[in-house]
Amino acid sequence: DWKMDSFVEESIKHIKEQVGDGKVLCALSGGVDSSVAAVMMSKAVGKQLTCVFVDHGLLRKDEGDQVEAVFGPEGNYDLNFIRVNAQDRFYEALAGVDDPEKKRKIIGELFIRVFEEEAKKIGAVDFLVQGTIYPDIVESGLGSSATIKSHHNVGGLPEHVDFKDIIEPLRELFKDEVRKAGLELGLPEYLVYRQPFPGPGLAVRIIGEVTPEKVKIVQDADAIYREEVEKAGIARDIGQYFAALTNMRSVGVMGDFRTYDYAIALRAVLTSDFMTAEAAKLPWEVLERATTRIVNEVEHVNRVLYDCTGKPPGTIEFE
Ligand code: XMP
Repeated sequence: DWKMDSFVEESIKHIKEQVGDGKVLCALSGGVDSSVAAVMMSKAVGKQLTCVFVDHGLLRKDEGDQVEAVFGPEGNYDLNFIRVNAQDRFYEALAGVDDPEKKRKIIGELFIRVFEEEAKKIGAVDFLVQGTIYPDIVESGLGSSATIKSHHNVGGLPEHVDFKDIIEPLRELFKDEVRKAGLELGLPEYLVYRQPFPGPGLAVRIIGEVTPEKVKIVQDADAIYREEVEKAGIARDIGQYFAALTNMRSVGVMGDFRTYDYAIALRAVLTSDFMTAEAAKLPWEVLERATTRIVNEVEHVNRVLYDCTGKPPGTIEFE
């Protein structure tokens, strides 16, 4: 793609001039936007860049290790990668909390605090990188009257980190262009075509209180579901799909024994803008295979439900 080719080249040149010999700090989430932004920065300023990846323990199965494999010392990019394993701090802060907005607030605030602590260790920073893309700017400018969900990572700037300026290398791009830029920069396809993943992570896919045990259940169920959808070759046709853990337990039977365990909800939606969505009519065989595997392979799950709700009235995430 010659247009993206020259966009990437121009951006790198521009960033080099802007940064000079300054120090750059980037919060890396492992999502498409921050990954592409980080790689573009690293091509421009190399070791002047430090990327901080806060693992809040609410990522999909093995995701933290995948991010580290790409961006860490064993990966392809020469940047100062710092992984902060803050899982326990997040679980502790979330213990006993079941209100969706409280959960979001706790995660958003702790995220910034952990990031700031890391920034302080690094010392004087000149530039902060944000993975803002064009639709983020448009959406936050719309100023909707009611907050349906307090979004984490929109406008969440650390207050206690001193820096001269913010760099938003993707601010002119739409999502599909960000993906093209990512491929241009040599990022692996699985990372570039990753589905959107909410900042508060699996916490909004676990209804009610978050515990490490529940995180493990939803991670395992979700990994199986994604594997089956991918195997069926329909992954790219679906806007977003994932497993959620309901807060419901019900009676089942396993062999000769009664069980009393959790229900997993599977969701898949078709959408063009994530503002509205319809439930995807997944092939029954895919749902069947995912269900069988989830109840057999994931402990403490004895029932699987499919969410047929559109948005509205449902939201895409469960909280
Ligand atoms: P809802 O659940 O509001 O989600 O229908 C719409 C889209 O936004 C994603 N989402 C988030 N993304 N921070 C994000 O960056 C958040 O706090 C957040 N909450 C929801 C959701 O995955 C879907 O794509």
